[in-house]
Parts: sequence; C-alpha cells; structure tokens
Amino acid sequence: MQTNNQLDLLRDNIAALRKNGKRIALVPTMGALHAGHMALVEEAKRHADAVVVSIFVNPTQFGPNEDLDAYPRTLERDSDLLRAAEVALLWAPQAATIYPEGFATKVHVDGPSAGYCGGARPGHFDGVALIVAKLFNQVTPDVALFGEKDFQQLAVIRRMALDLDFGLEIRGVPIVRDEDGLALSSRNAYLSVEERRNALALPRALHDAADRIRGGADVASTLAAASADILSSGFAHVDYFALADSHSLEPLTHYDGRSARLLAAAKIGKTRLIDNIAI
Ligand code: PAJ
Repeated sequence: MQTNNQLDLLRDNIAALRKNGKRIALVPTMGALHAGHMALVEEAKRHADAVVVSIFVNPTQFGPNEDLDAYPRTLERDSDLLRAAEVALLWAPQAATIYPEGFATKVHVDGPSAGYCGGARPGHFDGVALIVAKLFNQVTPDVALFGEKDFQQLAVIRRMALDLDFGLEIRGVPIVRDEDGLALSSRNAYLSVEERRNALALPRALHDAADRIRGGADVASTLAAASADILSSGFAHVDYFALADSHSLEPLTHYDGRSARLLAAAKIGKTRLIDNIAI
C-alpha cells in the first residue's frame, strides 16, 4: 500500500493506476477505522481493481461547538488495517493541503440536506459536500462508496454527484452493527460503560417503530412514542426521530408502502448518535 499526503504525489499514484487500466474505487473516511469502514473497503474491492481510502478529519463539516479537536485520530493503526485489507493507496492529507490560505469556495446541496442532521448541524452538509467534491476531483474514482449509517449524507452525495456531473457511480453499503445491535461509529469511543449500555435504546426504538409502522400503526404517535422511549432510557435529547422517503428524504406523515426510512439522532451524555432503518 502506498501512503501519501501531497497532491502531486497523489496525481502520480492515480496516473500509474490508470496507466495499468485499473478501475478505481474511493472510500472517503475520517479515520478511527472500525468494521463499518472496512465493510466499505471490502465492497469497494468487489467493484474495482484498486481501492483508494482517504483519511481526513474535515474541519469544514464540524460546527464551532462540535468535537473536531476531540475526534479520535489513530493513523498508524488505521494504516495497518488498510494494508492488511490490500488497499492500493492511502490518501491522508493535512488540512493546509486541502484548505490552503485564501480558500474561498463553498458547495451547497439543497433538497436532501434540509432537515434531520442538516437542521441540527447547520453547515454540516456544506462541509461534507465540499470535501467529497474535492476528493472526487483529486482521486477521480470510477466508483465511490458510502455507508447507509449516514443515510442523509449518502442522499446528499448522490444528489451532488448527479447535479455536478461527476460521472461516477455512488454505492451505498448497509450499516454494520455490534453484536448487540448498536451501529458502529468512531464516536462510540466517547461512551462510558453505562452510556454504551443505554445507547441500545436507539436501535431498539428504531426496530420497534419500524415493526409498528409496517403493521399499519399511526406514524405520528409511533414516532412520538419512540422519542419518549429513548428519553426514558438515559438519552438527554432527541434531535429527530422521523419517517422519510428513502430517495428525496421528504418527511412522511403516513406510510403508503413506498420505500421509506426511519431516521434518528439523539444525544447521550455529550455524544450524539445517529441511526436509521428501512421500512
Ligand atoms: P466517517 O464517519 O469516517 O465515515 C466514513 C464512511 O464510513 C461513511 O460513508 C460512513 O457512512 C461509513 N460508516 C461509518 N460507520 C458505518 C457503519 N457502522 N456501517 C456502515 N458504514 C459506516 O462520513 C464521514 O466519515 C465523512 O462525513 C466523510 C464522508 C469522510 C467526509 O468527510
């Protein structure tokens, strides 16, 4: 595996892969890799000849009071995991390489970035769209993979890739969970033992609400009961617990049999967890 943090070297690496006729997959990450990230890498191998993984804790997608400084950084360990997974190239740039002095461009995606995490974290998806657009231009992948764990992010990136003619394939990968059902996340490392135990209320509430909605229960009262369940299990705040159209992400007040998704975000202690489930 090659590792670099310089744009000109990255271009040389990509050109070398292209010269050998390789189909290139990109897996963008912020590091602190876990089995969820590695599932994206394994899926990438099925759809390309060479896998490029980026690790960059992107400052523009963090709000002023969020966890940019505390975000776990474990580059050496990540690098070992990626090498063992036979990744071709690790792109791990510094912030000054990505956002040099004078940087002045923004990318804003309307539509799927409205509401949910977009409402709770103003500017978050602008930062995500900006870094992902830059990574697409830097790496020029044929296919890029994103987890359904960040369901709204996946919808925003699909929209942006279409709207800006990136001409690459976007693939979503199902959520990888711990044995007890909690979705894997780099932020789970922040949880105390008690919080980790109580955090299970989130996937459980999603699962139960999905069952009820499939069974024809009233949507509004099911969502309200799910939020109440989460709050009574030790969560401090529910940012949202909503039913949305899987493609447009428009909120649904009734379930009419179309492809829909339950989306939730809630805070336990200082940690914000998100999760979702298909209906
Ligand atoms: P990060 O949180 O590191 O996640 C990188 C990718 O891994 C995302 O596509 C995310 O959806 C996926 N992922 C995380 N946990 C997962 C799980 N349990 N199961 C399946 N996939 C999972 O998302 C980001 O980084 C950033 O916003 C990024 C896209 C890299 C832009 O900075």
